[in-house]
Amino acid sequence: MRGIPREGEDLRQGRSLAILLILCLFLKTCVPNASKPNILLIMADDLGIGDVGCYGNDTIRTPNIDHLAKEGVRLTQHIAAAPVCTPSRAAFLTGRYPIRSGMDSSIKQRIVFWNGASGGLPPNETTFARILQQQGYTTALIGKWHLGVNCESRNDHCHHPLNHGFSYFYGMPFSLVNECQGRENPELSQSLQDTYWLHTQIIALAVLTLLIGKLTNLFSVKWKTIACFATGGFLFFISWFSSYGFTKYWNCILMRNHDITEQPMRLEKTTFNLLKETVSFIERSKHEPFLLLVSFLHVHTPLITTEKFRGRSSHGLYGDNVEEMDWLVGKLLEAIDKKGLKNSTFVYFASDHGGFLEAQEGNVQRGGWNGIYKGGKAMGGWEGGIRVPGIVRWPGVLPADTVIDEPTSLMDIYPTVVHLAGGTVPQDRVIDGHNLMPLLRGTVQHSEHEFMFHYCGVYLHAVRWHQKDSGALWKAHYTTPVFQPEGAEACYKSGICHCFGEDVTHHDPPLLFDLSRDPSEANPLSPDTEPLFDAVISRIERAVWDHHGTLSPVPQQLSAYNIVWKPWLQPCCGTFPFCWCDEEGDRT
Ligand SMILES: *[C@@H]1O[C@H](CO)[C@@H](O)[C@H](O)[C@H]1NC(C)=O
Ligand SMILES: *[C@@H]1O[C@H](CO)[C@@H](O)[C@H](O)[C@H]1NC(C)=O
Ligand SMILES: *[C@@H]1O[C@H](CO)[C@@H](O)[C@H](O)[C@H]1NC(C)=O
Ligand SMILES: *[C@@H]1O[C@H](CO)[C@@H](O)[C@H](O)[C@H]1NC(C)=O
Repeated sequence: MRGIPREGEDLRQGRSLAILLILCLFLKTCVPNASKPNILLIMADDLGIGDVGCYGNDTIRTPNIDHLAKEGVRLTQHIAAAPVCTPSRAAFLTGRYPIRSGMDSSIKQRIVFWNGASGGLPPNETTFARILQQQGYTTALIGKWHLGVNCESRNDHCHHPLNHGFSYFYGMPFSLVNECQGRENPELSQSLQDTYWLHTQIIALAVLTLLIGKLTNLFSVKWKTIACFATGGFLFFISWFSSYGFTKYWNCILMRNHDITEQPMRLEKTTFNLLKETVSFIERSKHEPFLLLVSFLHVHTPLITTEKFRGRSSHGLYGDNVEEMDWLVGKLLEAIDKKGLKNSTFVYFASDHGGFLEAQEGNVQRGGWNGIYKGGKAMGGWEGGIRVPGIVRWPGVLPADTVIDEPTSLMDIYPTVVHLAGGTVPQDRVIDGHNLMPLLRGTVQHSEHEFMFHYCGVYLHAVRWHQKDSGALWKAHYTTPVFQPEGAEACYKSGICHCFGEDVTHHDPPLLFDLSRDPSEANPLSPDTEPLFDAVISRIERAVWDHHGTLSPVPQQLSAYNIVWKPWLQPCCGTFPFCWCDEEGDRT
């Protein structure tokens, strides 16, 4: 039996309760907000939809990803906004087609090529990380960024993750490339050296002509113009020069927040370091809602794989690397589950775009596989370039072991996580993604995507129309890459498909497929075989027209000027150009 409470004790208890309550309101952290889940987003690099067990691969072992799908929702029509890293990731983080932020390209180079380039995710774009940060989330990016570093000076870090809503960053500001490992099979240098050298020569010739014209009064030209050309030529020359073997020092670096910790990176430790960072972030953030974007360096070449996983798969080094990536996924989920965060964490897994068919060494495949889908990385229109694995898990909220075939986009994650965090998406700009929650929970049957626009660089190559009433999934291709050698289904000769000029074929009328009947885009329809042909094409045309009306010109982040290497922007942990450091803090 309880004794009669003494008045003073009651009062004291009441007072301390009130103090606690006030404290809670101040700190907001002592009562975890049940309606605000943690958010763990996992992004693989260059992973093909055909590389994953639960998407039909029966020879690569991906038990952890398969298990994730078992416990959640598997999206079978999850579409990247671009078929290469930089624009796809820009779209993912901003919820907008990359053309809206100037993050896609009108030239052959469609990605950020140097840490020392000036292009990157514009500071006035609002990532979901920034909104979640404002909503009280602890935000972190661990792994690959590839969206630029500096604008005007070596340490302005205007494009850096910490300037885009992440409160913690550990990883590569750039991307893994073959050069990080050694000199063989240079990924950037070979083609880039050629391009830069060509530009250098052309501009040098132009400058010479202008100079002669000016000096002999043959034609009038301002000194300023000549100086402008000369500067451009000089930059190309520097880029050409610096791509000789310097890539490893300039690009393959690791940073913790604003500091460089390894320049160049020591690849044999990287996987372990990234995992350790991830687990320790989860550990120290378990009491507050967190957003953690783990952006794997796997399964991009050079396929850094630890000893334990080498030679384990039946698909060579590529398969080993995929299996190691799956193991990493398992480790992350284990960290979440062990900390009791399983039911309070929204987990998402995807790849940034399709597998890289042309990645080969000799006859050995070094890139991914896109299953029944035609094409791959770098191809903006063909399904294999943009259809990726997409899995979401949130036990207790989302159904388990569910498959959704509706069209969804990587850009949908933006409004989805903003909604989960109780925030609102920016109202002053177009957001192309849609909140996925109603679809994932099963409260609606159809996704909100009626049309999707498939860009290759800044060029619109194809359009998808999900005709909800009939269930048809039309796709019209206006432009397709020219495969080489003839008969191949990729661009093996040039090593990668390009988006314009002689490297593409234009189609008028467009090639039309119904993916619901022909997911491999094997048999184009014609007015003879498809009575709706003309009606479908004209409906799609109208959608393109409307879409164009929503675009406005923005500065091009990946222009020729913005992607060349600029010595004054090169992140450097020593005194430029002597940039090298090993391990945290100590320089050699
Ligand atoms: C599984 O993935 C490997 C490696 O990408 C690929 O070679 C193989 O064809 C795939 N198997 C299936 C059934 O898709
Ligand atoms: C987590 O959610 C599942 C599915 O709703 C439920 O069975 C389980 O009891 C929950 N676990 C906890 C610790 O709440
Ligand atoms: C939890 O977050 C939601 C959305 O931000 C808010 O409306 C609600 O008041 C919060 N609840 C608690 C207990 O803090
Ligand atoms: C960002 O700035 C550029 C250049 O001033 C502008 O064109 C663009 O519309 C701005 N973007 C947003 C989302 O405000």
